[in-house]
Amino acid sequence: MKDPLAVRRRLEAVDYLADDGMAMAVFLALELGKPLLLEGEPGVGKTAAAKALARALDTTLIRLQCYEGLTPGEALYEWNYQRQLLAIRLAEARHASLTDADLFAVEFLQERPILRAVRHPGPVPPVLLIDEIDRADDEFEALLFEFLGESGITIPELGTFTATTPPVVVLTSNRSRDLHDALRRRCLYHWIEFPEPGRATEIVRRAVPGATERLIGTATAFVGDVRALGLDKAPGMAEAIDWVAALSVLGAADLAADDVVRTIGAIAKTPDDRAAVAAALAAHQERPA
Ligand SMILES: Nc1ncnc2c1ncn2[C@@H]1O[C@H](COP(=O)(O)OP(=O)(O)O)[C@@H](O)[C@H]1O
Ligand SMILES: [Mg+2]
Repeated sequence: MKDPLAVRRRLEAVDYLADDGMAMAVFLALELGKPLLLEGEPGVGKTAAAKALARALDTTLIRLQCYEGLTPGEALYEWNYQRQLLAIRLAEARHASLTDADLFAVEFLQERPILRAVRHPGPVPPVLLIDEIDRADDEFEALLFEFLGESGITIPELGTFTATTPPVVVLTSNRSRDLHDALRRRCLYHWIEFPEPGRATEIVRRAVPGATERLIGTATAFVGDVRALGLDKAPGMAEAIDWVAALSVLGAADLAADDVVRTIGAIAKTPDDRAAVAAALAAHQERPA
């Protein structure tokens, strides 16, 4: 992709609508071969961006979902103990013996997402999504430094594996905690804002093609307003899409009908939020159309 505009068009062709900042960030990440760290509130399209990028590049998406307690064995690689044991038994049966080098060989290595990305045969580099890195324990980040800086992994028993076709790496964070400076330094950075009304409407339109224009416009604008209420869980684009899909299934043409309030579980996810959104909806319904 020759410039940010080309990135934008290719993403749009797979139904991901990027703004200028996002298109530039992706362009530079591809051009410089650097990991891209995307931060933003839940539901602003961070995960979707990585998935769309894989589709736009017509390549494999390798995904590592982070969580508390994520171990190196789940993220990088693991030794396949069962196969090693089996090999030992077989050797014993043949009265042969195995050395450490026999047992800690590539054939006994179990690839996890990061090693899989490093060893990807190409020719097109895969997209590696390291999703919600802020959920992993902060020591986990340190494990990524070598990989992020050099597209390589050192396995003590085997040496260093360096990617022949370095993966396109996208990390995301919901900012539930701050990340190490050392991690940030190895990445390009982009903060994703909730899309402005025009783009939000277009995103919903593409996701719920059956909904009427009026429903899409009013519901998406309402979700935008609701985000300003300071809720516990501000609705993201996923919620806006779910809500419009729900209303559309129920045959609603806009937000005027009484029973619309029964669908707000799609955008309000706690009792307090539900009350706040119901009040906002009532006020909205009282406004002259
Ligand atoms: N710019 C965008 N273009 C297309 N769809 C989007 C965009 N932003 C968000 N979405 C939609 O919103 C949903 C939620 O986004 P997601 O990537 O899961 O958010 P995050 O990972 O930031 O929490 C996605 O499934 C996608 O359908
Ligand atoms: Mg996500």
